[in-house]
Amino acid sequence: MVTLEKIVNLCKRRGIIFPGSEIYGGLANSYDFGPLGAEIKNNVKRLWWKMFVQERPDIVGLDADLIMSSKVWESSGHVQNFNDPMVECKKCHTRFRPIMQFNPRAKASGFKSDEGCPNCAGKNFTEVKQFNTMFRTNLGPVEAPEHTVYLRPETAQAMFVDFSTIVDTSRKKIPFGVAQMGKAFRNEITPGNFIFRKREFELMEIEYFVQEKDWEKYFEMWLEEMKRWIKAVGIDEKLVEYVDVPDGERAHYSKRTTDIEFKYPFGQKELYGLAYRTDYDLKAHGIEYRDPVSGEKFTPHVIEPALGVERTVLAVLLSCYEEVKGGRTKTTDSVKEEEIVLRLPKEIAPIKIAILPLSRKENLINAADDIRKTLSKYWMVDYDETASIGKRYRRQDEIGTPFCVTVDFDSLEDKKVTVRDRDTMEQERIEIEELKTYFAAKLN
Ligand code: GAP
Repeated sequence: MVTLEKIVNLCKRRGIIFPGSEIYGGLANSYDFGPLGAEIKNNVKRLWWKMFVQERPDIVGLDADLIMSSKVWESSGHVQNFNDPMVECKKCHTRFRPIMQFNPRAKASGFKSDEGCPNCAGKNFTEVKQFNTMFRTNLGPVEAPEHTVYLRPETAQAMFVDFSTIVDTSRKKIPFGVAQMGKAFRNEITPGNFIFRKREFELMEIEYFVQEKDWEKYFEMWLEEMKRWIKAVGIDEKLVEYVDVPDGERAHYSKRTTDIEFKYPFGQKELYGLAYRTDYDLKAHGIEYRDPVSGEKFTPHVIEPALGVERTVLAVLLSCYEEVKGGRTKTTDSVKEEEIVLRLPKEIAPIKIAILPLSRKENLINAADDIRKTLSKYWMVDYDETASIGKRYRRQDEIGTPFCVTVDFDSLEDKKVTVRDRDTMEQERIEIEELKTYFAAKLN
C-alpha cells in the first residue's frame, strides 16, 4: 500500500489538503481542503445524499443548527459521559488517551503503565482521569454557567430532538430515517495521522427509526447499505474489516456496534460505525411515536450508520492511488519515470473533464474556450494550456480527471476533438457538437 507520506505530499503539492493557519506556524491538526479537496469533499457528501436521501423513499434530510440548547446534551448523556480517559506522563507532561495509545482494544482498566510513555519512555503516570471532549462556549457576551453551550460532537441529536416535527410534517411512518451531514467538534486529546483524527470534522449520519422487534433485521440491512456505499465511493473492499465492538467498549448509548475498520498505512482503525442505539435517545428526550394505523404509542428504536467525511476522503485517496513505474503516457515526450494515477470514481473526481488546446495559437484557444463554456454548465471542467500535452495528461491523471479533451489544428477544420480516457488511455475522435451527449452518457 502507498505510504501516508506520499498521500500527504500529493495533497500538498496539488492543493488538495494542506495544513491550516500555515502562515502563523499552523494549528495542531488543522487541515484545510483546497480547491480540489473542496470538490472531492463536496462530491463525497453529494453522493451520500443522493444514495440515501434522494434515492430512498424512506429517508428525509435535515439541516439543523450546530449549537443547540445545552439541555439537549444534558439529556442525551453527553455532558456526563462523552469522556475520554486521559493520563499525563509525570516526566514530560505529555497527555495521552491510554486506550488508544497503549492498548487499542482494552478497557481503561487494561491500561498497562509498564509499556512506558510513547513520547519519552517514562514509566510514571498520573491516575486515569476522565476528560469531556465537548467544546464549550458561551451564547452571548456574558460568561456564566446558564449561558454555556456546546459545539455539537455528533449531528445525531438534532434528528432525535426534531423527530416529532419531522414525523408530523413529512408523514413518514416507521421504519424511516432522517439524514444529516455537517461539522462536528471534539476536543480530542491526541489528534493525528493527517486528517484521520481531527478536532473539527464532518459527519454524515442517519438515524433509522424502527420497532424494537425489528432492530436486528435493520442492523443487517444497514450493514449491506454500508458495503454498497464503500464500493460506490471508491474504497478498496479488500482493505475493510467489520469488527463487533465488545461489551464495555461501546458508546454509552449502544447495545451493539459494528466498527467498519480500514487498513490505513498506520494500522487497522475505525473508518465508520454502525450502532444500535436502542430507544436510549428518544427516551432521554421524552419523545414518543403514535402508530397512525393502530394508534399505539411507543418509543422507536434506532439504527445509526455514522460516517466521517475526512476519513472517507483519506480511505478513498489511499484506495485509488496508483504509481506506474516507467510511465504510462504514450507520447514522444513521455519521461520514463514514475507516474501517479488517482483512479477515483467519476462521481468523486474533482475535475471531470480537462480541456487542453494543443498550442497557444489564438484560434485554438478560442475553440477550446468555447468548449469549456459549454461543458462547464454541466460538469466541473479544467482548462490548461501550459506545458507539453504529455505533461498535461500526467497532471490530470494524478488528480484523477476521468477525461481529457485535446483541441488540435484539425479540430478547426473537421470540428472534432480527441477525447482521452484516464483508465484505458484510449483516444477517440468526437464531434464537438456531440460532446455534451457523449459525456452525459459517460459521466451521469
Ligand atoms: N453519532 C455517532 C457517532 O458520532 P462516532 O463513532 O463517535 O459515532 C462517527 O463517530 C464517525 O465519525 C467515525 O466512524 C469516524 O468516521 C468519524 N470521526 C469520529 N471522530 C473523528 C475525528 N476526531 N476526526 C475525524 N473523524 C472522526
